Amino acid sequence: MTDPRLAALAQSQPELRLLTDPADLEHYGRDWTRRWTPAPLAIALPANAEQVQAIVRWARAEGVALVPSGGRTGLSGGAVAANGELVVSLERMNRAIGFDPVDRTLTVQAGMPLEAVHNAAREHGLSYPVDFAARGSCTIGGNIATNAGGIRVIRYGNTREWVAGLKLVDGRGELLDLGRALVKNSSGYDLRHLAVASEGTLGIIVEATLRLTDPPPGSSVMLLALPDFESLMRVFETLRARLRLEAFEFFTDRALQHVLAHGAQAPFDETYPYYVVAEFASGEAGEDAALSAFEHCVGEGWVLDGVISQSQAQAAQLWRLREGITESLAPYVPYKNDVAVRISAMPAFLAETQALLAHEYPHFEVVWFGHIGDGNLHINVLKPDDMDQSGFVDECERVTKLLAGALQRHGGSISAEHGIGLVKKPYLGSTRDEAEIALMRGIRRVLDPDGLMNPGKLFDP
Ligand code: FAD
Ligand code: MLT
Ligand code: ZN
Repeated sequence: MTDPRLAALAQSQPELRLLTDPADLEHYGRDWTRRWTPAPLAIALPANAEQVQAIVRWARAEGVALVPSGGRTGLSGGAVAANGELVVSLERMNRAIGFDPVDRTLTVQAGMPLEAVHNAAREHGLSYPVDFAARGSCTIGGNIATNAGGIRVIRYGNTREWVAGLKLVDGRGELLDLGRALVKNSSGYDLRHLAVASEGTLGIIVEATLRLTDPPPGSSVMLLALPDFESLMRVFETLRARLRLEAFEFFTDRALQHVLAHGAQAPFDETYPYYVVAEFASGEAGEDAALSAFEHCVGEGWVLDGVISQSQAQAAQLWRLREGITESLAPYVPYKNDVAVRISAMPAFLAETQALLAHEYPHFEVVWFGHIGDGNLHINVLKPDDMDQSGFVDECERVTKLLAGALQRHGGSISAEHGIGLVKKPYLGSTRDEAEIALMRGIRRVLDPDGLMNPGKLFDP
């Protein structure tokens, strides 16, 4: 360790793993956004909460900023380290610590990947229902720090609903035990929720106690082809009323074409403007209801074509069309928007936004998909080949300002589930009013008095 600050840390914590190899700095210094050049001081890989506390105390003594790091699958630049920070990766803290069959809770270290949590819950005959395509790489700590949503929010809610308790090493180096996994607890402020969606700005989550639930019912998946956006909401209302929906997701034909170019199998002989993937509880009653709902939607002209999975393999194939979108767009380093409005505001917001983006982006490819049943749209803008990256981002920022204005008018949010991070920091004020932002800053000053926890993310110090 040539840096004297790191040498001091290494000396005081001989068991702590520290990396300074340029390839490691590059690997751990970025997330999925790929927009910023990684430049961390070093990477720390603590093995336990005590080491995390020691790191925070060292950071305060040396004035070094820290970037908490999970699977770095984040899409808002929250885990980017581009300014000489120490990245604190929870990668080694990846184990389940305890299961309680009576409480139906699973206690895990925060670096445990989401998929490993799914598997652990299944081994106990239960389910952890938050789910999305990054499941193999993202971690529970990152999920909590972003309040991750995903494809089953429509039935089970966001990560927030499933956090029964958590342990946080705050910016003062204190280990806080928040929530205690009680079902009922009316003894004052519920501080556990401060950590949810905190994006690493209040401290480092080191442990979480997660609620588990009954395994999901047997289900089938249907893929529907739709003529227009208006039909989306009609089909959603119909299926929600007649089926037990486990998921309701949509994407446009542009999105589908990218996934097909990545090797997925075309679902229909023809192409259609819009598609819905809906998962519903099956069994005879479910299948009959699905068929009759499908026929109703076709009769109304809301659905043009459709297919229902007959096996788990077919269901997985249909899901791939939706879940493969992010990966298929990644080579374009797309400019991502992740917006939300109340479901009731969706039709008006959609109409306005479609018109706005068609007007502002005549030359850019715009790919729409998302969790329409939650009021959450993903709008990805792809860079034309003949445009440089910074000109492209500037142009997207100009349009995002307009989009933020539309969101403000419709009472929506500039980040539904990805977090604010660096990407949406300039637009926080469109979603939160000044009084709220001032309160957030105040809370942060209490838990992170030196402003060393992920500075520059969410809001400027
Ligand atoms: P990171 O990217 O490492 O970090 C994210 C933020 O959390 C950063 O601010 C970081 O500092 C902070 N953080 C990480 N760990 C901790 C910790 N232990 N303590 C404190 N702060 C911490 N997101 C959705 O919500 N829904 C989706 O459907 C969805 N689908 C995705 C699909 C793909 C293919 C990809 C690549 C991403 C997707 N995401 C989705 C985004 C991303 O996976 C989530 O935001 C996820 O929760 C990030 O977890 P992570 O461990 O990778 O966190
Ligand atoms: C999704 O819903 O697929 C994710 O949020 C990822 C993305 O927006 O790219
Ligand atoms: Zn999403």
